[in-house]
Amino acid sequence: MAAAIIDGKAFAEGLRGRVAAAIPAFAAAIGRAPGLAVVLVGEDPASQVYVRSKHKATVAAGMESFEHRLPATASQAELIALVERLNVDETVDGILVQLPLPAGMDEKAVIAAIDPAKDVDGFHVINSGKLAVGDADALVPCTPLGCLMLLKDRLGDLSGLEAVVIGRSNIVGKPMAQLLLQESCTVTIAHSRTRDLPAVVRRADIVVAAVGRPDMVKGDWLKPGATVIDVGINRVATEDGKGHLTGDVDFASAADIAGAITPVPGGVGPMTIAVLLRNTLVAAHRRAGLEAPKGL
Ligand code: GUN
Repeated sequence: MAAAIIDGKAFAEGLRGRVAAAIPAFAAAIGRAPGLAVVLVGEDPASQVYVRSKHKATVAAGMESFEHRLPATASQAELIALVERLNVDETVDGILVQLPLPAGMDEKAVIAAIDPAKDVDGFHVINSGKLAVGDADALVPCTPLGCLMLLKDRLGDLSGLEAVVIGRSNIVGKPMAQLLLQESCTVTIAHSRTRDLPAVVRRADIVVAAVGRPDMVKGDWLKPGATVIDVGINRVATEDGKGHLTGDVDFASAADIAGAITPVPGGVGPMTIAVLLRNTLVAAHRRAGLEAPKGL
């Protein structure tokens, strides 16, 4: 194995520590800690795990965590009414509606109901528009922002580098491409219809894989020395019935060719919650008319 391992778990712990360290000054100025409201609709087991981890991390950072659970039978109107109550609740700085929503609910309509100033997921079109035009006060989706932090920590200035983002989702692929463009990378977004994907990936100094297909990107697709960020978290079946987690990148072959690579688990995964806390802290400062702490 030639590649350096990019330790997202350690970086995320550092970021969570910096966020936690900024809470006392905020609380002293405003009279309360920043508050994050997380809304879970239905019983999806993976979403329940995520929501529990978000709650624990929020409390551990010294913020207020408000959990709202609605049954899978709740109507879209009830969910939007809850979001509207949270929009006007002064103790709530961040609102996150856990996705996916139960079948029949319109995710776009629900996201559109969130106050963009509290949209710590960065999914509202106001925030994606701000990101697209390079507005510094955009709230940026957590996973791609976490990937960018890891890339800048590893590579420093990204200017002029060739970046290939595999996946065009609104949650990861598209905002990731915008962030890399803002860093003056030459950006290609590849997807399921891309012709000769290995040849496209082979051009890249930076590869971000976010497709949700286990072990898809192989070592011989990579330019030697490339930096590889694996956003995939795929549970694959094993003979013992327990299953195990694997990324979108075939780690064993990629680690022989890449210069640096994120592992799964322990790479991008821990960054998402750390950036969520960071976004909540930033949203809380902006809403209070305070300058957000630097270096987050
Ligand atoms: N479901 C999977 N990832 C995410 C995320 O980043 N935010 C929300 N709200 N739901 C998700």
